[in-house]
Formats: sequence, structure tokens, C-alpha cells
Amino acid sequence: MKIIVCKDYEEMSRKAVELVAESLRETPAGLVSFAGGETPLGAVHAFADQVNAGEIDISRAHYVSLDEWVGLSDTDEGSCGLFNRVELLGRLEKPFAGAHVINGAAANIEDERRALDAYIAQHGPLTASVLGIGMNGHLGFNEDGVDFESDAHIIPLSDVTKRVMTKYFGEKFHPEYGISQGLRQIMAAKRVILIANGAHKAEILRQAVRGEVTNRVPASILQQHPDCYVVADAAAGAGL
Ligand code: GLP
Repeated sequence: MKIIVCKDYEEMSRKAVELVAESLRETPAGLVSFAGGETPLGAVHAFADQVNAGEIDISRAHYVSLDEWVGLSDTDEGSCGLFNRVELLGRLEKPFAGAHVINGAAANIEDERRALDAYIAQHGPLTASVLGIGMNGHLGFNEDGVDFESDAHIIPLSDVTKRVMTKYFGEKFHPEYGISQGLRQIMAAKRVILIANGAHKAEILRQAVRGEVTNRVPASILQQHPDCYVVADAAAGAGL
């Protein structure tokens, strides 16, 4: 793991985009993924700005979303789909060659899971995957206890995730499951960039980076990735 502790959120976001840009320069027809949630907002905006300025070429690259709350679509407040559509894809004046955003409200969620596997199989492996970390150490919806060998899957949300999720949509939705890229697909990414900001992430980030590799803290598997960057702001990086 290469650990980069930045002075603040802006620097963390900028650094993450620099690493994605470098990957895309090496593999212009690659496959890129950004997590949803609060952490990557600055990074996806900076990424879109640089694409629009002609500094990053995504004309041959594909995009795939990381995860979604089962039951939520890309029009639902707080969904990962809405984040992808509005904060990233909708900002791009020069689009990706193709994009796949998971629909958590699909009539047949098993078909949706298969479609995610198929998209990654067709356009992957991932060139650069930008991930956040959940308060229980999850990556996407690879919740604690997940199988490290998983591909795309549908998984019950942990109690910690259920407590935290109200920050995205209050009491409006009560999802019980998440749909997510699996750790096998994430670990197959050429480069993984784990970003974290804020003091509330310091302890779980420390466990993921310095603790033992265990599926009780799914992000700890990244210690075994050959090109993983951990990019944190000063508060989240305090325990590293
Ligand atoms: C969410 C998502 C993840 C995200 C993580 C951290 O529940 N499933 O993809 O990376 O938890 O979210 P945040 O950046 O809002 O703290």
C-alpha cells in the first residue's frame, strides 16, 4: 500500500484524480469506477472538470458504478445511481465510450447482478477503481464477513451501514440489501485508490491499513493489492 496523507479534502480529491489520470494515460481504453457516497464528491467533480478541459481523455474508456442500495434507482435521493448520473456522468461534456450504472430498483435484481458481472467481464478488468471506506470497513457493499472471492453480489446490509445510511436519504428508504462489485473484481483492478476524509474515518482506516487482513474489515484485503494507494486527508490519516 502506498499511503498519501494530504492536508485537506481538496488535496485528497486532486491526488485521487491524478492517479486515475495516470492510469488512463497508460490504458486509454480502460474501465474506471468511482464509489458513490460523500467522500468522492470532490474527486468526481475534479475528474469531470479535467475531462472537460481536455486534460483527461475518456473517449475510449468505459465506466462502471461500484454499488447501489437495492430498491433505489438513479432518480432516488441519496442513491449511488443519482450520484453517478448527476455528479459525474451528467457533468461530462466529452463522455465515456460507454457507461453502466447499477439499477438497484430493477424488476429482477439477479439479472441486474448478472449484467454487472457481464459488463466488467466485457470491458474489464478495472483500470482504476476509486473506493471509499464504510464505517465498518466495507468497500462498496462488500460488508463485513463478505467472501473475498466474490464477484458482483447482493448482500444484507450490516447494522453499522443501516445506522449510517440515513445520512443519504433520512427515513425515506429502508433498504435491507446492497448490490455491489465484488472483492475479486476490485482486487483484479490494475490500480485501486482508497480515499477517506474526516476524523470519523481515522480508526477504521487504521484497522484496514495497519490491522490484520480479515473479512471482518473488508478493506484490509487491499493490503494484498499490488498497486493500491490510500489517499486520506490529515484527519482520516491521523492513525496511519
Ligand atoms: C457507502 C457505500 C460505499 C461508500 C461508503 C462510504 O455505504 N456503499 O460505496 O464508499 O459507504 O461512504 P461515504 O463516502 O459517504 O462515507
